[in-house]
Amino acid sequence: MATSTPAATPCLLVLISGNGSNLQALISATTSTPPTLPARIIHVISNKKAAFGLTRAANANIPTTYHNLVPYKKQHAGDIAAARRAYDAELARLILEQKPDMVVCAGWMHIFSDAALQPLVEAGVGIINLHPALPGQFDGAGAIERAYEAFQKGEIGGTGIMVHWVIGEVDRGEPIVVREVEMVEGEGLAELEERIHKVEHVEIVNGTRMALERLVREREAAGRT
Ligand code: GRF
Repeated sequence: MATSTPAATPCLLVLISGNGSNLQALISATTSTPPTLPARIIHVISNKKAAFGLTRAANANIPTTYHNLVPYKKQHAGDIAAARRAYDAELARLILEQKPDMVVCAGWMHIFSDAALQPLVEAGVGIINLHPALPGQFDGAGAIERAYEAFQKGEIGGTGIMVHWVIGEVDRGEPIVVREVEMVEGEGLAELEERIHKVEHVEIVNGTRMALERLVREREAAGRT
């Protein structure tokens, strides 16, 4: 409840597209006693209606918004770039009206264009993303599958995950947390995925905490507390 939360508690808005197990890790960390992540999740936005993460948010009494690209594609028939610009501008507006300190992309499968990024940057809202690969490797979707295949071909000896700041280039922003994950001969893809997710659930919390600490330091330095 807004009334019982100290003004200094940072507010997070989480973006999801699916299962929401990383959102769950953030919910648990912010609601445990004492919280392992001293922050409050004020809103969740999903671009997929069936995302189970929406149910997780509702169970934790966190308000949600469903924001999907399809109506924008219909409005801008034939001009996908215009559709994405309009969608992203509205995404930024939806985010900013919640007044978060930081946005956490936790399994958010939509690329941020400048139309979404710039308004957040201008408002001083930090944006971080969880990606299931090491920096510079397997950018974009299907990263775990691609790492798995590369390991089978002997091209890599291991993989990892990172939490990083979001910039215009997909999965290329400055890393906040990087964790290596070893790969094991004979292991199936599903088992590897499960091990990676376990690491993600720890590091999304650590990465968010570290990013918030930096945001506070920067705001203090700029005289904006
Ligand atoms: C995670 O592996 C994340 O790194 C990737 O999508 C997955 C989302 O999982 N981009 P969940 O929705 O948090 O369970």
